[in-house]
Amino acid sequence: MLEKLLRKKTAVPDAAITTRIAVVKSKPIPAHVAIIMDGNGRWAKQRNLPRIAGHHEGMKTVRKITRIANELGIKVLTLYAFSTENWKRPKLEIDFLMKLPGEFLSTYLPELVEQNVKVEMIGNFDMLPDHTKHAIQQAMIATADNDGLTLNFAMNYGSRLEIVESVKEIASLIAEGAISVEDIDESLIGSNLMTAHLPEPDLLIRTSGEVRLSNFMLWQLAYAEFSFTDVLWPDFDATCMLNAIEEFQLRNRRFGSVEGDGNV
Ligand code: FPP
Repeated sequence: MLEKLLRKKTAVPDAAITTRIAVVKSKPIPAHVAIIMDGNGRWAKQRNLPRIAGHHEGMKTVRKITRIANELGIKVLTLYAFSTENWKRPKLEIDFLMKLPGEFLSTYLPELVEQNVKVEMIGNFDMLPDHTKHAIQQAMIATADNDGLTLNFAMNYGSRLEIVESVKEIASLIAEGAISVEDIDESLIGSNLMTAHLPEPDLLIRTSGEVRLSNFMLWQLAYAEFSFTDVLWPDFDATCMLNAIEEFQLRNRRFGSVEGDGNV
């Protein structure tokens, strides 16, 4: 009896989600969704748990959101997993965060391969501990030929540092005489960023009620739509993701023009 009741309880939202997915898929889907996964610490605090318990639960959310993003036909999902500023956190927390890619990928890599997901990373790779590098590298190799969703971890990533590196690269090309100052344009700068091979994000989501960019994809988000939610990252689920995409689909993206406005 109890089993029957439980089955009934889960069957209803699943059906509702399936219908919502179908409706969302019939409209334009953002090609690239970028997420600032915030609120793990507060989620843990609310439960009298250590902050790392929140990060661990957040890792499970990564799995759920990857699955729905892939199902929706999103091409790229960039997740802000560790910023260049996060090194200021307590060592225990940093060590735990650095172990999460290893745990995530050793648990879910077979499922990512099966779902045709391609794992990539942006950020400073060299500074990561060897075990983190190894986990990410193995996953990138195992999924290199996949052409479904690109699951792009921003790990030890900072947008200002990325722009500084891009400017240095362009300056050295000029110094070598390979290009001239007149060749500098938006596309040259974009093509020297770590995201050169990816479309720019169409939608940025930040969880936990914070309304700031925290040095995340400052160049790339120039024309993205922003969606902020009070939901803490460990509680962010398929319904929250659908809410954000539905909100995106209602937006009128003009990219600086006045398209659709007859009043001149
Ligand atoms: C910010 O929340 C979150 C982070 C700095 C870490 C995010 C990492 C994950 C969600 C897991 C990543 C998983 C993989 C597989 C790499 P916070 O701790 O600042 O939250 P608070 O503002 O409530 O304290």
